Amino acid sequence: MASMIFCDCSSSTTARLLPLSCHKLRHSCTPLHFSPYLTFSISSSKTSFPFLSIKSHASSTLISAKMATENTAKVIDGKSVAKQIREEIAVEIARMKEAIGVVPGLAVILVGDRKDSATYVRNKKKACDAVGINSFEVHLPETSTELEVLNSITKFNEDASVHGILVQLPLPSHMDEEKILNSVGIEKDVDGFHPLNIGRLAMRGREPLFVPCTPKGCIELLHRSGVQIKGKKAVVIGRSNIVGMPAALLLQREDATVTIVHSRTNNPENVIKEADIIISAVGQANMVKGSWIKPGAVIIDVGINPVEDPESPRGYRLVGDVCYEEVVKVASAVTPVPGGVGPMTIAMLLSNTLSSAKRMHNFS
Ligand code: GUN
Repeated sequence: MASMIFCDCSSSTTARLLPLSCHKLRHSCTPLHFSPYLTFSISSSKTSFPFLSIKSHASSTLISAKMATENTAKVIDGKSVAKQIREEIAVEIARMKEAIGVVPGLAVILVGDRKDSATYVRNKKKACDAVGINSFEVHLPETSTELEVLNSITKFNEDASVHGILVQLPLPSHMDEEKILNSVGIEKDVDGFHPLNIGRLAMRGREPLFVPCTPKGCIELLHRSGVQIKGKKAVVIGRSNIVGMPAALLLQREDATVTIVHSRTNNPENVIKEADIIISAVGQANMVKGSWIKPGAVIIDVGINPVEDPESPRGYRLVGDVCYEEVVKVASAVTPVPGGVGPMTIAMLLSNTLSSAKRMHNFS
């Protein structure tokens, strides 16, 4: 991260192990480690934000427009939006089962013993159970061969009761991620990581069968919060294959003017300050400061970063890429961590699995 400025939330100096350095312990700014794999509240400001209009129809209950204090950003409540989406999905699954007797199936392949990956997989299975999706899981040891993973994928590619296949990342370092992801049938690629799906996402006039879940969740949050994207300046922070790159492609498809800020960007804060919409997916706790934000910007914080917290029973707590206490005073809307983008990722996976089953069985 050569030219990125990583500094403590409440100071202009470099980050230190000062868990109490932000205004509230909940949002202090001490990263435990850098996370290359990523995963969010709206409030109102005194400035006027023509591109943010919160709709007051039935779905407005999805947005908790809590006034934390005067002149603070609105909190985009991802937990509540995701719950609503899961309920919509459950209704559709019941309708399909009733009409044609088909139940969507999701297969998840987990390799190795990473605790975070095991937690993500467990949460995916729970979410499947709750909406009525059948889930299949293969857990292979860290020492498995690439061929064993490929064989599991082949088996699921050929299984008509499986409509979506997900290989949990990261894979052990001795495996060729590209080769493994390429072997997932494009019509079952619910993660949207197959190069054909990503290629179609990048091309005008082409349609991917699936869009990666976390970026899709970010855009869904913007839509359901009434944020206009067309014609706006958007900055994506981070260029990962899983989030940053597809998020930038999606924003561009929505007619935003998109800039990607990455580890080699000079003066990232100057670029970020121009943005009407910011999606941050860099995996660096409290990196984005309030002073980097244009008044009235909308911020989607994908980062889920553990920071030391002696007062928490686990000894740590989760914070975003964005220094929440600072940006909430400048932005028009911001996602909290936790409770922002995180729940949306799983909701989009369920949505992709349902779409896949509908497409395969010609059910609309
Ligand atoms: N690891 C972290 N995020 C993801 C994701 O969205 N999909 C998969 N397959 N693995 C991940």
